[in-house]
Amino acid sequence: GKKKLTTSSCRFLMERKLGAVDYNVLNELRLERSFLDVVISVNGVEFPAHKNVLCCSSPYFRTLFSNRCDSKDKKIFTIPGISPEMMEMIITFAYNQTVPVTSENAEQLLVVAHQFNIPGLIRLCSNFLESRLCLRNCIGICKLAYHYCCLELHLKAFRFILHQFEDLVRESEEFLLLSFTELCDIIERDDLNVRNESLVFNAVMKWIYHQPEDRKSLLRKLLLKVRLALRDSENFLENIRSYEHMRNKEYKMSIYIALLQMIYDLGVKESATPHLACSMAHSRLPNSILLAIGGWRGSNPTNAIEAYDARAKVWREVLHEEDSPRAYHGTVFVKGYVYVIGGCDKVKFYNRVCRYDPVQRVWQEVAPTHSRRCYVSVVVLNDVIYAMGGFDGYTRLKTAEKYNLEKNQWTLLPSMNDRRSDASAATLHRKIYICGGFSGEDYLITAEVFNPKVNQWSLITPMSTPRSGLGVVAYKDEVYAVGGFDGLNRLDTVEAYNPLTGLWRTVSSMSTPRSNFGIETMEDLLYVVGGYDGFTTFATVKYYNKENDKWKDIPNITVDRSALSCCVMSGLPNIQTYAAARDTSGYGICFRPSEKLSYKTNV
Ligand SMILES: *[C@@H]1O[C@H](CO)[C@@H](O)[C@H](O)[C@H]1NC(C)=O
Ligand SMILES: *[C@@H]1O[C@H](CO)[C@@H](O)[C@H](O)[C@H]1NC(C)=O
Repeated sequence: GKKKLTTSSCRFLMERKLGAVDYNVLNELRLERSFLDVVISVNGVEFPAHKNVLCCSSPYFRTLFSNRCDSKDKKIFTIPGISPEMMEMIITFAYNQTVPVTSENAEQLLVVAHQFNIPGLIRLCSNFLESRLCLRNCIGICKLAYHYCCLELHLKAFRFILHQFEDLVRESEEFLLLSFTELCDIIERDDLNVRNESLVFNAVMKWIYHQPEDRKSLLRKLLLKVRLALRDSENFLENIRSYEHMRNKEYKMSIYIALLQMIYDLGVKESATPHLACSMAHSRLPNSILLAIGGWRGSNPTNAIEAYDARAKVWREVLHEEDSPRAYHGTVFVKGYVYVIGGCDKVKFYNRVCRYDPVQRVWQEVAPTHSRRCYVSVVVLNDVIYAMGGFDGYTRLKTAEKYNLEKNQWTLLPSMNDRRSDASAATLHRKIYICGGFSGEDYLITAEVFNPKVNQWSLITPMSTPRSGLGVVAYKDEVYAVGGFDGLNRLDTVEAYNPLTGLWRTVSSMSTPRSNFGIETMEDLLYVVGGYDGFTTFATVKYYNKENDKWKDIPNITVDRSALSCCVMSGLPNIQTYAAARDTSGYGICFRPSEKLSYKTNV
């Protein structure tokens, strides 16, 4: 026969998180109208149901059915303050443990799920809203989640706001409607993702200008949260002058005065307490970290790892549970792990592959490559790692293989046209480019492309010069080939390949010849780290900016070396571990909407 749910079995099932209930049976009972013992009435619409099922689903119903002395035998319960459509959803959820969530109903559903205290339904709505997070709605969702205590969603939405702040200020209408406290909560965060403070300054101006009369008095308080140093503030005055849209002279004047006042305050403060001035201007946390891993120093390989914080412009040593020293390896960051592939130490050529978990800070060995690959080229494309060429101790390789992360498995690819050891590779527009290298006889001028769609290598236009031990990276729609060794000299020349034209063009030279350095791009800049000039390994680091076609020196790494490999980590929950140490005394608490929820989210 059919099982009847008793109160005690209900409690038992609640404790088991409802895992063992056969909801199909319950639903059948409802549809057959068997054992129905309650009617929920909403706005004249009646929903017959089972008390026990509703009790299991929501404490609201448990209280409703048990608290009142007359409720024991009562059959019909009228519930105000909810629409019949929403009650239908709640009851369907009680029986099916799921309901169709849509952009139209998600917000309302979250509100009633909260009202009726149904964790499963709250989670369903939260997950849906999270999947819809975008510039248009993230502020609304953040407020909604806060209001209805969806902590995880709130945190995700808030992180989204911090991370996309630059675009948000440019595109979001919701941004202009933030309250003063809400804006403060955002701009005082260390982990606000902005490349420089003028973006924060401009955001404040834009927000004030939206309602100048009400907001201009808040300017000074807001400017205190912009991490200005005196040396920057003159720029801001210039900035204001160029604000064409500020037609109102009087208003423009009042902003000027506030700025002058602030500059004066900053001047007084900085001359009185230089250390305070520093901490006021202390930089925000970076969103990405550049890693320099391993390499060759003097006559030994090293396992040193250093992390570059581009906001603070500081290198920091990464302490980690050690991996063995290696050089001439390749590294990539993919799905939260740093993979280190191939390379060698003083005796062995490696087929070893290790991965580093930057959150737990531990190393783990994964499946080895088929061939030993020292001087290997490594890239990642669509979450698949590719290892190409190299030297196995006997010959230079033209073979290549790819690694499936889920299966922890390497499979061979078609071979390249040339044997390439000490080449370098990059991915651009879903294709892999590998350039130069040493074949065992020649320093290579050739380059080739692999298209995973057709599983095929083809040669492209050769470079202007042979390059072995070069750096190759994709940067702003081109493939850059940087430095290297042509068989006679270390090179400081740079060229870039445009796949649309199939041509190489000359780029500003680095002006210091180098081979076997680390190369990466981060936040629209191209970095080269360390290397070898034919006499010695060095520690200098530079970046190239395509905007002005110029190279610029940045601070040295601590451990000078060549044959290192670089990769960029982003989106880590513990980015502080890798960033420069900061004064965290002002570390803000989370976004707290100050106003009653008064508008709709744009899901
Ligand atoms: C700040 O960053 C923006 C966007 O990247 C850039 O346009 C601007 O020139 C930068 N300002 C300064 C002072 O570096
Ligand atoms: C950086 O390193 C280079 C060589 O590796 C050295 O000549 C130079 O003095 C270093 N610069 C600083 C500021 O330490």
